[in-house]
Amino acid sequence: MRFEVLTLFPGMIETAFMNGVTGRAASNGIVSLDTVNIRDYCVNNYGSVDDYTYGGGAGMLMMCEPVYNAYLEAKKKAGDEACRVVYMTPQGEPYTQEKAAEFSKEEALIILCGHYEGIDERVLEEIVTDNISIGDYVLTGGELAALVVMDSVTRLLPGALGNDSSPDNESFSEELLEYPQYTRPGVWHEKEVPEILLSGDHKKVDQYRMREARRRTKERRPELYEKYLKKRGIF
Ligand code: ADE
Repeated sequence: MRFEVLTLFPGMIETAFMNGVTGRAASNGIVSLDTVNIRDYCVNNYGSVDDYTYGGGAGMLMMCEPVYNAYLEAKKKAGDEACRVVYMTPQGEPYTQEKAAEFSKEEALIILCGHYEGIDERVLEEIVTDNISIGDYVLTGGELAALVVMDSVTRLLPGALGNDSSPDNESFSEELLEYPQYTRPGVWHEKEVPEILLSGDHKKVDQYRMREARRRTKERRPELYEKYLKKRGIF
């Protein structure tokens, strides 16, 4: 998988991505990251990439030309004519685990991060294939949202999580929240680890975890729990 990120803050993307699991996946050649600084495609000697909005209103809008030229560069680097272009925007489709799985099947993704009040609609119409929102709140720019997408896609790539843990092990985690987990010591602040987890009976442990996952989902995310029941015809 290759990520090409169009951004005004390449350092923000590179620093965050090149750490931890995603950084290791990049070092191991499972994923590659490249950034294109939209500022390098500014329209004048002042480095301008934004301008006032037609029709008035507060704030500045990113102009078509710098965004388009940065996109052409990213497309050339991605070497993929049909590469999807994902625009991070609070007006996008809500991002889900399903979408992460879909993106993880692509050879390359171009991710466009906006700033200021947004980007001129005409260039968006021309280049964007997917509008994605990571939640109903507004960030100062698309970089944190792009990192959310890149992180969640990378962990699904074969080998990214190392040998002993695979996203496939989370058999029901895509529908239910995860069960509570414990490590040593067995007693901490007078709280004991549930006895069943010490029993060595794998079947019982699995049943316990499933029960806990259901209970937790019902309590914390009732709408997710309803969806889970409906999918199984329990209603
Ligand atoms: N850019 C600003 N806010 C955003 C959000 N909630 N999701 C995706 N991109 C964004």
